[in-house]
Amino acid sequence: MTNQLRLCLIPGDGVGREVVPVVGEVLRAALPRLAVVEVEAGWETFRRTGNALPPETLKAARACGAVLFGAVASPSHPVAGYRSPIVALRRELDVFANLRPLRGWLVAGAQPALDLLVVRENTEGLYAGRERREGDTAISERVITREGSARVARVAYRLAAESGRRVTVVHKANVLRVGDGLWREACLAVAGEFPQVETDEGLVDSVAYHLVRDPGRYQLLLCPNLYGDILSDLAAALGGGLGMAPSLSLGFGERFAIAEPVHGAAPDVAGRGIANPLGAILSGALLARHRWDRPDVADAIEAAVAHVLASGVRTPDVPAPVAAPGESPVGTEEMGRAVLAALARQRR
Ligand code: NAI
Ligand code: MG
Repeated sequence: MTNQLRLCLIPGDGVGREVVPVVGEVLRAALPRLAVVEVEAGWETFRRTGNALPPETLKAARACGAVLFGAVASPSHPVAGYRSPIVALRRELDVFANLRPLRGWLVAGAQPALDLLVVRENTEGLYAGRERREGDTAISERVITREGSARVARVAYRLAAESGRRVTVVHKANVLRVGDGLWREACLAVAGEFPQVETDEGLVDSVAYHLVRDPGRYQLLLCPNLYGDILSDLAAALGGGLGMAPSLSLGFGERFAIAEPVHGAAPDVAGRGIANPLGAILSGALLARHRWDRPDVADAIEAAVAHVLASGVRTPDVPAPVAAPGESPVGTEEMGRAVLAALARQRR
């Protein structure tokens, strides 16, 4: 066995097809020995082949252990035989912990005090897929298990111990006493294994309120699936926008990881060459940090992104700074070149 790093690129649909190639270039520049394969998945793949997640794609993802997934354009009406390939891939690789670091980038409208890690349970809760109709009544079951809660809590506490962050356990156990009650109990039991980490707790609605009022208030939010989904989008807005928000889904022992920008296929901007590639690039940095154990590479990519934004280079989804309202935005490829140039300058 060699210790060759391998990456499986899955562009998917919409802007995924535009941003993923840029990440491939950035990661190849930062890690020259990286072996990259590209495979297909998504709605277009389903329309062409009848399978949104072909077996070859799953095989390549498993073989590489590290995946960069762009986005998928899932229809919001049920389509016979179709299931979301990203949901299926997360389940197949059992990547149960979704990490979403959010910071206030130096762009107009962002909150500089924001420096938050959302750790979201990725397999259970309301997204467990147990829904049914009984006539005009719809029933969605929300599944919380002690083991499912404890394993994501351990990832969160390990990261908190490494980074000196305080953990806030997010729940709504005052109303959902059984489900969120078990979540809270399991998370607080793991907190007991990490006496060096400070812990508090917050009701999800109150956390949303305080996050907007005081973006620097929280350091690490440990959330069940749905709450983590919503709070991390809220925090992305405080950080400068969805186009810049990265995420990484991690499995047990860090054997499998899927890097995926938080955004979707963005049909309103797809095909125009103006999608923001930074969320995807920063997701690639998370692979370096958490899957390949190369924090130096992750730091370099994040510093390059910070430098580019601070110098006023931005895609159209990022508002113009008050100081330079006239400066025109750049496209996806030009943004990619700016990040590559900033990386190259660091090495000199
Ligand atoms: P979206 O994230 O695709 O777009 C929301 C808004 O943010 C849009 O105005 C879009 O233009 C903007 N935006 C998103 N990413 C951007 C980028 N990189 N650069 C510039 N602007 C960007 O979410 P929406 O509109 O709810 O969903 C669109 C499609 O994407 C749907 O089919 C949905 O199912 C799918 N989706 C897929 C996800 C995934 O693959 N993980 C996640 C979220 C949605
Ligand atoms: Mg979401």
